[in-house]
Amino acid sequence: VTTTLRISTGTEGDKADFLKSAGLLFDVFGSARFAGTDFLEWLYRRNPEGAEVTVRLDDEAGRPLGHFGLYPQTFHSQAGECLMSYSVHAAVAESARGQGVWSRVAEETYRVASQERGIKATFAAANRNSTHGFTGRLRCTLLKPLPVRIGLRPLRPAAVASYRVTDGFLSGPEFGRLVGTINFSPGPGWSQKWSPEKLAWRLRRPGGEYFVHLHDQGAMVSRKEGLKGLPIAVVLKVFPPRGGRTAVGPLLAAACKAHRTPFYLYAGFNDRAGVPGLPLPRRLLPAPLNLVYRALTGEAPPPEKLNLSVYEFLDFDAY
Ligand SMILES: CC(C)(COP(=O)(O)OP(=O)(O)OC[C@H]1O[C@@H](n2cnc3c(N)ncnc32)[C@H](O)[C@@H]1OP(=O)(O)O)[C@@H](O)C(=O)NCCC(=O)NCCS
Repeated sequence: VTTTLRISTGTEGDKADFLKSAGLLFDVFGSARFAGTDFLEWLYRRNPEGAEVTVRLDDEAGRPLGHFGLYPQTFHSQAGECLMSYSVHAAVAESARGQGVWSRVAEETYRVASQERGIKATFAAANRNSTHGFTGRLRCTLLKPLPVRIGLRPLRPAAVASYRVTDGFLSGPEFGRLVGTINFSPGPGWSQKWSPEKLAWRLRRPGGEYFVHLHDQGAMVSRKEGLKGLPIAVVLKVFPPRGGRTAVGPLLAAACKAHRTPFYLYAGFNDRAGVPGLPLPRRLLPAPLNLVYRALTGEAPPPEKLNLSVYEFLDFDAY
């Protein structure tokens, strides 16, 4: 079969091309986010860190067989900055699976990203289908399954303001107060580098349904989700304040209150703002959340030296 590799580094590709990729992703994942092109255009083209690198393999009739991509994310630590990325949308049409299509498009994605775009490393949250491929042929290292904790609303009264994220919120004074509260500086370990501009973009995700909780001792981003029929406040991010320690309890109480539930769920880790709770049995999770990492060039920390201090839902594309 004759196939064509369709490489996009953000400078090419039109609406028809996005529709073709979204069509394959919709067929493979069945997720509403791929029902049109809004989500892909937001993720791939409006990221203030730069456009995506994607590789799609089309058959001789122009039908998409496989798609893979990544988008750039700067990470930082007190030792400096490094342009890294997050790998997304490993998707191969059912009829083409088991023939190395994904390995081929993924290697090509990593080659283009590192050689043409200066991207030095990549993360991914692998699922049951992709963990073996990521850690095998794609030479990623499994850092760890993201820890997931569940907890009960703390009974702490506090002056925490909660806001539903809307365009009005993002362009108004409350967003200014939010970014004025957050400490964006790096800690000793590596974490994604956030900025006001990047946060505004991230919170504009189509269908995000985010809430922001804010007081002078930190900020939190959350959304509501159902887990086995129970409403639950999912904590997506905790930001430390400019001065002093993060008061996580009041923020958790505010998130539970805003979503009208006694339960919260948190995935990941944050060395400046630990979220308490009990480990959730992994069989209750819809996906294993295996955090994998690959240094694409010698300039990125090798996995054994990567001291990752923050990784939370808002750092990748789950919500
Ligand atoms: C996961 C997926 C992209 C793999 O595509 P593919 O083209 O069949 O993968 P490859 O042929 O390149 O296989 C790469 C490796 O992964 C393994 N693999 C492929 N599908 C697998 C699966 N469902 N479960 C476990 N291992 C799998 C292959 O055996 C191969 O391992 P090997 O090197 O030991 O032979 C494809 O099955 C798919 O689109 N699945 C549904 C969407 C999905 O879950 N994507 C992952 C999102 S994180």
